[in-house]
Amino acid sequence: MTRDRDGAEGGSGMGAGSGEGPPVGAGLHIVRFAPAKLNLTLAVMGRRDDGYHSLHSVMVPLMLGDALTVSVAPQAIAGDTLRVSGLAVSPGEDNLILRAVVAVRAALALEHPRAGADLPPLSVRLVKRIPVAAGLGGGSSDAAAAIEAALAAWQTTLTPASKAAVAASLGSDVPFFLAQGPAVITGRGEFVEPLPAMQSEPPAVLLVTPGLAVSTPAVFGAFEGGARPADPARARIISENLAARLRAGMTTTALLQEAQQLAAANDLLPAAISVAGELEVFIRSLERLVGRPVCQSGSGPTQWVMYPTLADARKAVRMVRLAVARGNLPTLGDGELSAIATLIAGPTAPPPVRRGVQSDVHFGRANGPRTVHNDSGADVGAPGGSADGPPEPKGDRSR
Ligand code: C5P
Repeated sequence: MTRDRDGAEGGSGMGAGSGEGPPVGAGLHIVRFAPAKLNLTLAVMGRRDDGYHSLHSVMVPLMLGDALTVSVAPQAIAGDTLRVSGLAVSPGEDNLILRAVVAVRAALALEHPRAGADLPPLSVRLVKRIPVAAGLGGGSSDAAAAIEAALAAWQTTLTPASKAAVAASLGSDVPFFLAQGPAVITGRGEFVEPLPAMQSEPPAVLLVTPGLAVSTPAVFGAFEGGARPADPARARIISENLAARLRAGMTTTALLQEAQQLAAANDLLPAAISVAGELEVFIRSLERLVGRPVCQSGSGPTQWVMYPTLADARKAVRMVRLAVARGNLPTLGDGELSAIATLIAGPTAPPPVRRGVQSDVHFGRANGPRTVHNDSGADVGAPGGSADGPPEPKGDRSR
């Protein structure tokens, strides 16, 4: 029995770890919503000694998200497993969820040596709705959700410091998702300052992800190679101003008025264009089509456009779909374009995981469910896929 939003339901038999009787958490099914993110701003402040870059970024979670269910595996199963349905997932993203489980187990073994040794294997199910490798943080969000869900399944906790350390060890965007709300991130992503929620219903966004792969390390590499904005201070100034205004309390109307500024507040845009030249024509075509400022999330390639309401963003999805069909919006790369209307997440609870407030038009392929095993308890390699059931629904497809 599972519940439709964060939380747990299930059988009895919890309590102390091994020995006689069922393992800790037996019968529990922990369901977590793993939201996508947008970088409203992204300023690269400099390069660090460890090769990473110091950032200043205002990040917000979206109502679009994946659903992660974590259960204690039946006793016959020897290792952690991951079953994926929905959109196709790259091996790296599979790895991140199972690596999160392994990292939590290791951190628990350090913090609670006696209990940590007895933690049973976990079965993880992921319904993938966030376009992958898109600058929307889907893999990082899944990893953060896996940390929380593993702790809940094992009915234990880590200190905030070790949870944050586990998150940072998995990826620069993972700490943001532990904060579960809008935040300013600095450092390489490990410093997260939560921001107050917007004072009114947050705006909607159109997300357009062209079907071409843009590698984040390649984009940072191009930035180091000189593909930078003409004004090196602009993104930082806009980012710091936006953070200050959000701290003081900002309305949706005020944020919508900043759209033009936000379109100029991603230091990685020239680098993304230098890695994938076609992106520039694509962005210009999208700007002409929607008649609004187009912004990039993270290292791309997802481009986003802000709208006052979800109905407006859904209208824009239809416009994009039509433009693709008529050849007025170029398709890039080998993959297919995805256009999604969703909302910036507000102060209210995340949406039910089976009926998210999102309207998605995925031109991309969905994959059948498949299972990845992690029997060794160590990092897994490339997952072996096996189709073992029908794909799950991808949410509200209404327009
Ligand atoms: O931390 P994560 O694995 O998400 O980072 C992917 C790559 O992006 C890093 O290997 C690095 O090249 C680049 N990166 C960076 N500075 C950051 C975040 C990421 O240089 N703050």
